[in-house]
Amino acid sequence: MDESERVRILDVLTDHIANDTTADAGGIMRAPITDFTCPDLLEQEYEVFFRNTPLCMGLSSELPEPNTYWSDNASGVPILMVRNGDGKFQAYANACRHRGSLVVPEGRGTKLRFTCPFHAWTYGIDGKLLSVNKSNHFGDVSSLDLGLIKLPCAELHGTLWVRPTPGDPIDENDCLAGLQRDLMHWNFPEYAVAGTQIIDARMNWKIGVDSYGEIYHLNVLHTKTLDKEVVGNAQTFHSFEKNLRMVIANEKLNLMRMLMPIREKWPYKQITYTVYFFYPNVIMMVDAFGVDFLRIFPLDHSPSKSRTMHTWYIDPKVRKYFDDHEAAHSDRMKRFRAVVENEDYAIAEDMQVNAERGTPPEIVLGRNEIALQHFHNAHRLGLARDLLPVEDL
Ligand code: FES
Ligand SMILES: [Fe+2]
Repeated sequence: MDESERVRILDVLTDHIANDTTADAGGIMRAPITDFTCPDLLEQEYEVFFRNTPLCMGLSSELPEPNTYWSDNASGVPILMVRNGDGKFQAYANACRHRGSLVVPEGRGTKLRFTCPFHAWTYGIDGKLLSVNKSNHFGDVSSLDLGLIKLPCAELHGTLWVRPTPGDPIDENDCLAGLQRDLMHWNFPEYAVAGTQIIDARMNWKIGVDSYGEIYHLNVLHTKTLDKEVVGNAQTFHSFEKNLRMVIANEKLNLMRMLMPIREKWPYKQITYTVYFFYPNVIMMVDAFGVDFLRIFPLDHSPSKSRTMHTWYIDPKVRKYFDDHEAAHSDRMKRFRAVVENEDYAIAEDMQVNAERGTPPEIVLGRNEIALQHFHNAHRLGLARDLLPVEDL
């Protein structure tokens, strides 16, 4: 994303705001309600999306230096990620080769070796089995290859990707599909982890994804919160194969329109929210405070339950302020949670109840919900299902 592209985005956004428009073309799309309730579909989604698709796990700063680790079970497969002594990103199935216990409890930290809590087999950060407790009692297994099982992984322009099942290496173009320049522009390795929280909800995981893909609801549902800061009903949209980028304005953009005629001088990051969808389940929002990174998963093999993992990676320019003001730091996390949990997901849980009764039989996605249209068809494409048509009315 170079300067000319940022100015083009601001041009389109400003036109939409000035003319109260969304897009010049497009139509509506209808999706069956059973997409949110069908247990067979959910099993396919687990198999294809959450077992065999590279998942964007987070930003590089999850593993800030050599010999750091991050153990994460959110996908339903326990994954151990490390930055080894050479600084290289590696991922392993977090399953002991003795009898399959979790070797490393969930969390992050610095360690050179990992000892299984069950019988104390010990592995190196390179995944090799270093020692078998009381091997004279157990038996000599040194001739067997019993290191932690490697998972395909890649560090791509400040983002960490893992496929939860062993197999072919990860293909950068498949994952990023043209978003490389955007990622390089943001320089994500500089953004440290500021906080992380879990938000569980009684809704299908795709309803969770949908809640970040349109701002048609902004001035209606969020009148007491985001409405004061974000400009509703105006967004740009650009697809990158199964991924997408949309850009939204905050109220400061309106100030720029009045005060500063030359758009090249507008401070892009201070006046916008740049939102990415990384197929199949990640929403990433970049603004002046950094990145709000959301991974949304189905939970407990239920079409009606989901888990959102929210991580805030802080912009290095504002880090000192938040380091010095602990209350402001925790307020931002709490506020994010309150908007999502009490407003977006509260509505989504009601939608899920109706969906389970088959009412309405289908949902309708408008032209101004083009990102949602894209999510639904990207997921269908991944599962080799028929794509939903765009209907011109
Ligand atoms: S299961 Fe890990 S040492 Fe026994
Ligand atoms: Fe919302």
